[in-house]
Amino acid sequence: MQELAYVNGKIMPIEEATVPIEDRGYNFGDAVYEHNASYKGKLFCLEEHLDRLERSMAALSFPTISRDEVRQAILELFDQSGIERAGIYLQISRGVAPRDHAYPEAARPQFMMTVRPVHEKPPEFRHEGATAITVTDQRWGRCDVKTVQLLANAMAKQQALEAGVFDAIFVSEDGIVREATSSNVIIAKDGRLITHPLTEHILPGITRQVLVEMCADQGVPVEERFFDLEALYAADEVFLTGTVTEVLPIVSIDGRSIGDGKVGPLAKDLDEALLEKIGA
Ligand code: PDD
Repeated sequence: MQELAYVNGKIMPIEEATVPIEDRGYNFGDAVYEHNASYKGKLFCLEEHLDRLERSMAALSFPTISRDEVRQAILELFDQSGIERAGIYLQISRGVAPRDHAYPEAARPQFMMTVRPVHEKPPEFRHEGATAITVTDQRWGRCDVKTVQLLANAMAKQQALEAGVFDAIFVSEDGIVREATSSNVIIAKDGRLITHPLTEHILPGITRQVLVEMCADQGVPVEERFFDLEALYAADEVFLTGTVTEVLPIVSIDGRSIGDGKVGPLAKDLDEALLEKIGA
């Protein structure tokens, strides 16, 4: 079992991997990423991650890299690491070129990855839930593209930690609940689930999609529509969804209890159903 890095076709120990100082990901945030996790030696939803990566690269007009090449590289790195419960972080930048805002004509995309054991969420969150604050969404207007421009997310997460809670939930200037710093938000009200529709204001989370489809199969009604801060506070249950986050119940937001302040039945059922589907 070994933590490893991959840089443009070469696999090496992480501390040996370096990035050229004129990489546009470093200078401009001109890079896209994916974070994929494995359970018992099997990567979850790899093809869905590749689909989203392709969409992110197309949205930024990156030159194409063959999907087979990316898949092969991921599988090789994962295999060489021998880590059963791995987190694979993948980043592709537009390329390396002297700093200039305009896209360089001849730059070649730079493809790097790391593989490490997953940093699991605290196990007690599953039974006790976690807490959150809300913050004004100050991110750019294309949150559907998975770019490395995550400063607003990092600042919000830090604000949450300094407030003594687990995470921050972004709310637009006009009160619409968007998503959390690295996960989507779903609320439950009167037996129905409500989640933000797929617009440019949120990331189309793979876990969110898996859960929406699972609910459709099980006859749990899901509404993909906007909801505001009042609806968030008044929800019976709130949970975050994401890779590694899985289904994370939130029992208090901005110091107010959600529902009865305990992990609700829908969060519990969906978490169990998701883990069963994953084969975890
Ligand atoms: N984050 N929303 C945001 C802003 C995210 O960054 C993520 C994922 C999600 C959930 O997406 P998914 O279910 O596909 O993991 C929603 C990853 C895990 C990260 O930044 O590492």
